[in-house]
Amino acid sequence: MKRITVIGAGNVGKVLGSALKAKGYPLVAAFCRTAPSRQTAARVLQCPVYDDMAQAARVGDIVFITTPDRVIQEVCENIAAAGGFHSGQLVLHTSGAHSSEVLAAAREQGARVLSFHPLQTFPGLEVGLQSLPGTFFTVEGDEAGFAAAAELVTTFAGKMLHIPTEMKPLYHAAACVACNYLVSLMDVALKMYAVMNISAASAMEALSPLIQGTLRNIASLGPQQALTGPITRGDVSTISCHLENMRQQCPELLPLYSELGLYTVELALRKGTLGEKEAKEINQLLGGQVK
Ligand SMILES: NC(=O)c1ccc[n+]([C@@H]2O[C@H](COP(=O)([O-])OP(=O)(O)OC[C@H]3O[C@@H](n4cnc5c(N)ncnc54)[C@H](OP(=O)(O)O)[C@@H]3O)[C@@H](O)[C@H]2O)c1
Repeated sequence: MKRITVIGAGNVGKVLGSALKAKGYPLVAAFCRTAPSRQTAARVLQCPVYDDMAQAARVGDIVFITTPDRVIQEVCENIAAAGGFHSGQLVLHTSGAHSSEVLAAAREQGARVLSFHPLQTFPGLEVGLQSLPGTFFTVEGDEAGFAAAAELVTTFAGKMLHIPTEMKPLYHAAACVACNYLVSLMDVALKMYAVMNISAASAMEALSPLIQGTLRNIASLGPQQALTGPITRGDVSTISCHLENMRQQCPELLPLYSELGLYTVELALRKGTLGEKEAKEINQLLGGQVK
């Protein structure tokens, strides 16, 4: 089995390293910058932990660079400058935002390079390991590395998605909308409940079944058919009442409410449940262009 090196044993590095080790891959090296991180990595990964990244990279057949996005290129170039890459190696990073091009320095030394992005969120080790099965891994870069990437994905019980290199930023922006903006939207809802002195915990408990049900509907029906609520029904007076009350009680949230409302009008028109007349009226209330 291919020997694995993890450069930057943070959240993702520890999850992927642990998962591969559990499946029998020899985890031959991890690199961390700081002493406390090295101690944690040694305890969690049970492998040799280096304070020299080129040495750590040199002993691996598959080298994961799981540092923050902003330093992947610099880390790769530093390893290359110290002679840490060689032909026969596969070098991967797990950033959603960057393409494999940030690993050009490794390619110049004969290694194959890929971006290998888990379309998943890893806030910690245990929860990360639990969420690996079924996760999509978006792969882009040197085709010669695709077979090895597919093997890794199978080991994680995941699924593979290929995208063209030039589409990587748009792909990542979409993932941020689906994950991060969903979190922000929930925060907005909790803020609105806080105006009524409902605690975040109680509001979350009350909203959870609604959120879970909505997610299930989106997954099974798609967003268009999953859409319900006053905009789909053309309830103009309800929207007007929301706006009037929000203007008094949480005016700072009105721009976001209105912008998303305008998008929802478009979606409801596509669904076919909202009439043109009501759509115009709601658009006008929300401050959009009346077509
Ligand atoms: N977490 C997620 O949910 C998630 C999901 C998908 C993809 N990703 C991607 O996975 C990658 C890693 O994310 P993460 O959340 O695992 O990050 P993280 O927990 O912050 O871990 C980053 C690791 O990189 C090391 N590091 C930081 N700066 C460095 C530098 N200048 N040189 C060398 N090593 C450095 C850190 O070492 P020290 O501990 O010693 O500082 C740490 O071990 C990123 O590209 C991210 O976009 C993350």
